[in-house]
Amino acid sequence: MHDLNILLEKIYEKTLKAAERNLHKIPYTADGNGNFDDMTDINVCWWTNGFWAGMLWQLYGYRENGLLREGAEEIEAKLDRNLLDAGGMDHDSGFKWLLTSGASLTLTGSRASRNRLLLAADNLAGRFNLMGKYIRAWNDSGDGRNAGLAIIDCMMNLPLLYRASELTNDPRYRFIAEAHAHTAMERFVRPDGSCEHIVVFDPETGTVVDKPGGQGMGPGSAWTRGQAWGIYGFTLSWRHTGNMDYLDTAGKIADFFIAHIPASGLIPVDFMQDTGCPWEDGIAAACAACGLLELGRATGEERYSMAAERLLTALWEKRCDLDPARDNLLTHCSVAYHDARHNFPIVYGDYFFTEALLKLAGRETFLW
Ligand code: GLY
Repeated sequence: MHDLNILLEKIYEKTLKAAERNLHKIPYTADGNGNFDDMTDINVCWWTNGFWAGMLWQLYGYRENGLLREGAEEIEAKLDRNLLDAGGMDHDSGFKWLLTSGASLTLTGSRASRNRLLLAADNLAGRFNLMGKYIRAWNDSGDGRNAGLAIIDCMMNLPLLYRASELTNDPRYRFIAEAHAHTAMERFVRPDGSCEHIVVFDPETGTVVDKPGGQGMGPGSAWTRGQAWGIYGFTLSWRHTGNMDYLDTAGKIADFFIAHIPASGLIPVDFMQDTGCPWEDGIAAACAACGLLELGRATGEERYSMAAERLLTALWEKRCDLDPARDNLLTHCSVAYHDARHNFPIVYGDYFFTEALLKLAGRETFLW
């Protein structure tokens, strides 16, 4: 990708300005003027609350700056309210504490961060269902209705367990991560390489009872972000364990993804949606690019890194706001196909876009 270093410099400068303006916030999205919102008092347990800190740490790793560190450390401390709230702890602890405490531990060696990371890992391990061999995804209001839910996104949370095993010299966490990854390979990945978003198990017997459409268009469709979680998530499980089955599975999902990239290089919300439907998900593109770059490195197959560059170039040229007066980077992200709102900024799109560009330049800090 030509001009990659110039682009990274622009993102660095823009993020410094955004960090200055938003020092005490936990952003999720930006309004029409490019001003970040703040999740601190709306929902401190929200699953995306680690991404802005992760972005600040990634850029701190690129070039140290006290402001970036201060902003990230403040978010990590705020998430202690979440760690103490059992009802707010779900399977997304990897997203939250790898990008805050894990990053801080890697870049500063903080003991407090190590402590938080291990508490979060203990909680995540406790969500494992022995009968179905899956990690339960979401909570419910106490009626047990979600006890059988597992989702492909969880592949991105497993590195919290791998990291906990590495830190404690105790394989228990890794065993749970591998058991979940094995279940995901068998139950989520379809013969054509696409994957389910949600699999519902009977929590008493472990039998699969349903495969609903989740955030995609419907049952049997291919929610693009789910495919991206699969590509990157299975590659990460390979990176932590060396198990080639995980890498082969990531390759299978990647081949499906690459075969469905539209001519524009911009990724829809669901690969099965009507070609005339304008809804996009830049997060799926950016996260898939991260996974494809890792997969390219792992397999030595150039087609994966070439596909990643194609996705990143399309985002950069058509869907990236580099104006330093506005907070967000990506402009076209979507939470789900059946949602009232589409094509708006969401913070984890910016995180994965930045991580992917740093990865491409060989400058990222490995946080997963
Ligand atoms: N993990 C939920 C999502 O990707 O929207």
